Amino acid sequence: MIDIHTHIMPAVDDGSPAEDISLKHLGIMAAAGVTDVVLTPHFIRAGYRPPHTDRLAKQAALQKGCQAAGLSLTLHPGAEVYLDSKSLQEINEHKLNINQTSYVLVETAMSTFPSDLYEILYQLVKAGYRPILAHPERYQTVISDPELARDFMHRNVYLQINAGSLLGHYGKRSQQAAWYLLEHGYAHFLASDNHCHRDDYPLAKGCELITRRIDDHLPRILTEINPRKMLNNEPIPYFYLEQTSGGSENFFQRFFRRGKS
Ligand SMILES: [Fe+2]
Repeated sequence: MIDIHTHIMPAVDDGSPAEDISLKHLGIMAAAGVTDVVLTPHFIRAGYRPPHTDRLAKQAALQKGCQAAGLSLTLHPGAEVYLDSKSLQEINEHKLNINQTSYVLVETAMSTFPSDLYEILYQLVKAGYRPILAHPERYQTVISDPELARDFMHRNVYLQINAGSLLGHYGKRSQQAAWYLLEHGYAHFLASDNHCHRDDYPLAKGCELITRRIDDHLPRILTEINPRKMLNNEPIPYFYLEQTSGGSENFFQRFFRRGKS
C-alpha cells in the first residue's frame, strides 16, 4: 500500500512532535503493509510553513532512520496545501507538489467552502496541476450534499478519502459521507492522514471494510494503482465507474467491465 497523506514529518505541524515518534509510526505502517509514504505536512499561508530545504532535510533524516530501523519504506516529498487565493504562487514558490509531479494535495475550510474555491482550483488546473482534495467527506458542505463530489471531479479535481472516516474516527456523518462517495465511485485515493496521535493505523482496516462491503479490487485502486500512477506523474481517470441506477449489473460487474475496456 502507498499512503499519500501523512503528518509524520517531525516538528513541522500538528502531526509528529519528534523523530522517534515518527519512526514508531512508520514501523506501525510498514507492519500494516505500507511500502511508500508521502510526507504531506500542512502548508498554511497564515500558519505552518515549513521551508522546502527543511522538508527535504527532514525527509532525508527520516529515510535514514527507516533504514537504520530495518523498515523497507520509501518516503516521498509533498505537502497539504490550505487553499487560498495565493495558493498557485505558493505551490510554485515553495515546491509543494507531490514528488515533483503535477499532483498536489489540497484542503480547505471544514465548516463552509470559501466562495472562490472553484476559482482557486481552476487556477491550479489551468497552470497544469492536478489537485487532490483531501478528505472531502469531512467538509460540512459535502456532508450536506455528497453529490457535490461529482462537481469536483468534473472540474478535474481528484478526491482522497481518509481511511479513519470509514471507521467512524471523525463522527457518524463523515463516516456516512465517506461510504456514499466510495459506493458512487467518487474517490481516487484512500489514505491515513496520520497525525501520530493514535496507534490504531486505519489504512489496512479501511481496505478490509471496503473489501467486505464493496469488492476486493477497489482497495487496490485506491491504495496502490492510483497512488503509483500519481508518484509516476501518470494521468488517472476521473470517472472509473459507470453509474447505472436500476440496471441489471451490480457494482462489481460494472467495475470490471470498465476495467477491461
Ligand atoms: Fe492532513
